[in-house]
Amino acid sequence: MNKLPGIVTMGAILIVVSSVLGIWYWWSPLFTDVGYMPLQPLPYSHALHVGKLGLDCRYCHTGVETSAVAMVPPTQTCMNCHTLIKADSPKLALLRASWNSKIPIHWLRIHKVPDYAYFDHSAHLRVGVGCESCHGNIAAMEVVELKEPLSMSWCLDCHRDPSLHLRPHDQITTMGWVPPANQREFAEQQIKALHINPPQKCSGCHR
Ligand code: HEC
Ligand code: HEC
Ligand code: HEC
Ligand code: HEC
Ligand code: HEC
Repeated sequence: MNKLPGIVTMGAILIVVSSVLGIWYWWSPLFTDVGYMPLQPLPYSHALHVGKLGLDCRYCHTGVETSAVAMVPPTQTCMNCHTLIKADSPKLALLRASWNSKIPIHWLRIHKVPDYAYFDHSAHLRVGVGCESCHGNIAAMEVVELKEPLSMSWCLDCHRDPSLHLRPHDQITTMGWVPPANQREFAEQQIKALHINPPQKCSGCHR
């Protein structure tokens, strides 16, 4: 009986510590977001269209260099090819239905930052941050998967030191890019030449 208060105290401490650890792990964006890979209404494959056929990202994501949003392509873009290629494929039935009815396909959104945080694709691509730094190797994905947590600390890690992520402009959509041996020097030059200065102040992203 004399030991009881000690045991109860120890037990209480253990419960508190494990629930703090649990919440920290399970509620962090790393656990809730990374790996998110919803099944799309139509089995479109980046591995086929980008990896095999070699289409450039900008053929479909036309807004990416000029605006905040990359944009998912309209049915028209797919029909440029699929009026002729695999025109009778059952896998494309939904595409043809969308084309005939003029009702857009409802693609499920995978990458999303909350409305109170401001993100702009064009600002990042202008200075040579490649799609791969934030989206992973899309050309290898049958189904797009969230590879990075999109958390505030993830944004800030790169904003504090972007040098490993700055590429020559003609490499921004390349997948599987390996930084060359002189990457640090190249990045220093780019930072000077393009006046690269990623915001770390709150108002930079919370406008
Ligand atoms: C032929 C058109 C096409 C090309 C080329 C293409 N995409 Fe896509 N992309 C799509 C479509 C359609 C979707 C929506 C369906 C899906 O998620 O698979 C999409 C979705 C995405 C998403 C997820 C969007 C979200 O909801 O968060 C990312 C990221 C992406 N593409 C990146 C790329 C990158 C990087 C490249 C180049 C390496 C590329 N795409 C090339 C058509 C294309
Ligand atoms: C530049 C031409 C081109 C564009 C643009 C294009 N595709 Fe394709 N797509 C192809 C080719 C080529 C194949 C492979 C055909 C084969 O396997 O012989 C294909 C195959 C497919 C398949 C598999 C069909 C099957 O029966 O196996 C789907 C699904 C598909 N595309 C969806 C889309 C969607 C959705 C878009 C628009 C976001 C799109 N494609 C844009 C050329 C294109
Ligand atoms: C610096 C990181 C970063 C880079 C580089 C980047 N993206 Fe994104 N992307 C994001 C974030 C963050 C979101 C979610 C944005 C939001 O919710 O407003 C996103 C969303 C998207 C989406 C879906 C929503 C939309 O904006 O239409 C597509 C498609 C996409 N990116 C494609 C691309 C392509 C293609 C490239 C390269 C040409 C690229 N991204 C480069 C971080 C990045
Ligand atoms: C891989 C590196 C990288 C990641 C990840 C990244 N950024 Fe950036 N970001 C940059 C660089 C480099 C610049 C500097 C652009 C310049 O100076 O013109 C920048 C600039 C910006 C700007 C200023 C744009 C403008 O118009 O002045 C905003 C806002 C921004 N980033 C928001 C975000 C947010 C929000 C995230 C996370 C969801 C994010 N960034 C993730 C590298 C990154
Ligand atoms: C580089 C861009 C960037 C900068 C700079 C930045 N934030 Fe954020 N912040 C974000 C993003 C993106 C999110 C959303 C993260 C998520 O969805 O998990 C966020 C989320 C938040 C949240 C909500 C946290 C939560 O867990 O829900 C608060 C509060 C916040 N930021 C405050 C700040 C303050 C204070 C500063 C300045 C010291 C700051 N931010 C600077 C990008 C930024």
